[in-house]
Amino acid sequence: MTKYIIHGGNPLHGEIAISGAKNAAVAILPATLLVDGICRIENIPQISDVTRILEILEELGAKIHVVNRHTVDIDCSHVRNTRASYEIMRQIRASYYVIGGLLGRFGSAEVAMPGGCDFGVRPIDQHIKGFIALGAKIDVEGGFIRAETASGRLEGTQVYLDVVSVGATINIMLGACRARGTTIIENAAKEPHVVDVANFLNSMGADIMGAGTDVIKIRGVDYMKGGFYSIIPDQIEAGTYMTAVAAAGGEVLIQNVIPKHLECITAKLLEMGVDVEERDDAVLVRRTGPLRKANIKTMPYPGFPTDMQPQIVACLCLAEGTSVVTEGVWDNRYRYVAEFKRLGANIRVDGKIAVVEGVERLTGAPIRACDLRAGAAMVVAGLAAEGLTEIDSIYHIERGYESLVEKLQNVGADIQMVTVPDGVDKQQAG
Ligand code: EPZ
Repeated sequence: MTKYIIHGGNPLHGEIAISGAKNAAVAILPATLLVDGICRIENIPQISDVTRILEILEELGAKIHVVNRHTVDIDCSHVRNTRASYEIMRQIRASYYVIGGLLGRFGSAEVAMPGGCDFGVRPIDQHIKGFIALGAKIDVEGGFIRAETASGRLEGTQVYLDVVSVGATINIMLGACRARGTTIIENAAKEPHVVDVANFLNSMGADIMGAGTDVIKIRGVDYMKGGFYSIIPDQIEAGTYMTAVAAAGGEVLIQNVIPKHLECITAKLLEMGVDVEERDDAVLVRRTGPLRKANIKTMPYPGFPTDMQPQIVACLCLAEGTSVVTEGVWDNRYRYVAEFKRLGANIRVDGKIAVVEGVERLTGAPIRACDLRAGAAMVVAGLAAEGLTEIDSIYHIERGYESLVEKLQNVGADIQMVTVPDGVDKQQAG
């Protein structure tokens, strides 16, 4: 078993470089299924979710050449297999993009239902609605989704999304790239990674307009060639380190970011009394005084991201006053609160609302990461807590954060990853 051991209380000082965006990478890699040629993709984060997607592509017959730590060449020209197995698909939510990629290229796909973090029901009805509108016949049976077209090609159409869904927007965009005719997605998601996927597809020969607005227009093309693409920096990784500085104190230059993508997070940190200075491709985060309360509601971009909700709550636990947090995207994203309470946090949850009463201090304790961002938030809380915090089930965190321990150690955090045999007493782990 591996865990993080944190001795909290050190203010953070120095620089952290942000890696490529996980949620762009896990869509762009399956998007290579649409391309007849070699795609060189740079700035890929080294995280386990990326490894899983590459395994799925290999299983389907893609040729993958690792150029260096953050660059791969992917050639899907010879892919003929359109069935992705249950064993890999169930491990990761974003595996659903394989459906859009296969269906768009071959007009058929057979893919096991996706897995991923558990925060309530995670339907994919909007993806399916989009594929049906594009002319696919869909069967969901025995844990598999089978999608087929009569002619071997999807047909362009108009799709209105009933909920703003990142996954459905990207998946329908993938399917539509090589469809016959034009597709219009209305009420589309506007997240930076939706735009990044569209930019990738356009640089491979697709014809997509409007990504980043709520209406996306895709003119189907017959062929997509290979090319080069570099993934954008990770908005949520950057935001997580911003909250780490806010919670633990200190001054850190967070580099390789697009400050515009961070505005929703920056605005809240400023309100809480944290200094955030925007540079060209960096933000300087400094906390010297006390944290102030803030009310937060998570919403689709450009609102405050749900994937930053647990990390900002970690800060609010230590803020003066009472903050009200409303989760506006997922049904059940407060499972981590029980763990925070072990650190001394004072939080009451009622449905989608959490009321956070700031406390003077958090104190270290053994806690368990229950999903990716909750785990990241536990690191943020552990860095600010007095004494020793041990976090287990860190495989959740490793899904989405490249070199987290090393990046934090470089700014003065006392954090280590240790491996202990299962069943060893927690005292021995330190
Ligand atoms: C993406 O998930 C992200 N994952 C999530 O980040 C993120 O929390 C979420 O978007 C919202 O920003 C990836 O990009 C791989 P949605 P996704 O479809 O696409 C409902 C992380 O920590 N909905 O935008 O699966 C759904 O229940 C992960 O990095 C439907 O009702 O989310 C939710 O309430 C966790 N029907 C809302 O829409 C559908 O068909 C938004 O979901 C699809 C979604």
